[in-house]
Formats: sequence, C-alpha cells, structure tokens
Amino acid sequence: MTLTPGPAPSRLDADPMPRRDVLGLLSLWSMASALVFATVGALRLPRAAVLPSPSKKFRVTIPETLPPGAAFVPPGRSVAIFRDGDGIHAVSIVCTHLGCIVKATTAGFECPCHGSKFAPDGAVTGGPAPAPLPWRQVTVSGSTVTIDEETSVPTGTKVQA
Ligand code: FES
Repeated sequence: MTLTPGPAPSRLDADPMPRRDVLGLLSLWSMASALVFATVGALRLPRAAVLPSPSKKFRVTIPETLPPGAAFVPPGRSVAIFRDGDGIHAVSIVCTHLGCIVKATTAGFECPCHGSKFAPDGAVTGGPAPAPLPWRQVTVSGSTVTIDEETSVPTGTKVQA
C-alpha cells in the first residue's frame, strides 16, 4: 500500500486563518462589547436610581369613629393623631431615646426597644428617653387636615376642626 501525496497547494488557495488571528479577532469583539456595555451603563447614570422619599407633610382623613383620646396612626407615618372636644393634635411616635417607633397604649406610649414610657401628652414617665415626644403641626382647612411631621409646635397646641 502506498500513500500518494495530495495535490500540491496552489498559490490561489486561501490560507487557513492562523490561530493567532482568530484570538485577535475575539479580543477585538470583546473590547467592542465591553465598550458598548460601558457606554450604555454610563448613559443610565444620570437618572435617579431611587424614588424620593414621601413628603413629611401630608393630608389625612381622621376616621369618624375615632373615640376621643384614642390614637390614630396613619399607615407609614410617624405621628399619632388625636381628636377630642378641644380639637385635633398630633404627637410624634419616634422615641427620643434612639428613634424606635413607640406604640400608643391606653396610658400613653411605650417604646418596645428599651422600655421608655410616655404620657398621652408625650411627657416622659419612665425609661431612658431624655425628652418628651414632640407635638407636630396640624393645619385644618375646611374638611382637610394636614399634618407636618417635621414641624414641632408647643405641647398642648390643638387645632379646631
Ligand atoms: S429607643 Fe425608645 S427607649 Fe430606647
């Protein structure tokens, strides 16, 4: 059995692409892809990535069935709203010790974190809290009640509805 050599390569045949050229093309495509992704990422940067926090001033509808002296805490808010014969007032429910949210009770407020207790008017009656719960600004215009969670008013300030 004899091996016969194949036809001799012609000068007109295309050269097979060397491995070095293939790797070079792959690296160029990788760099181009990285550049495209980096550009797309850079174009997205100026847009805000988070939503702004909700306003600290909000309108609220106080339930008609709210008994006098009972607290109404609107969902997601940090004030307890009260309505009695003297008017409407709002007390912050952010503990003045380390900022936990206090719970409204029949005797006032209790902090679940370190046990501070507050009277219904926010005065400290026990625990490590260094200051009373501040009262917040209430504005009534017609049937609209607006609470400003950032503006304090003197304790005892009530607004007629
Ligand atoms: S955070 Fe309320 S007692 Fe410490």
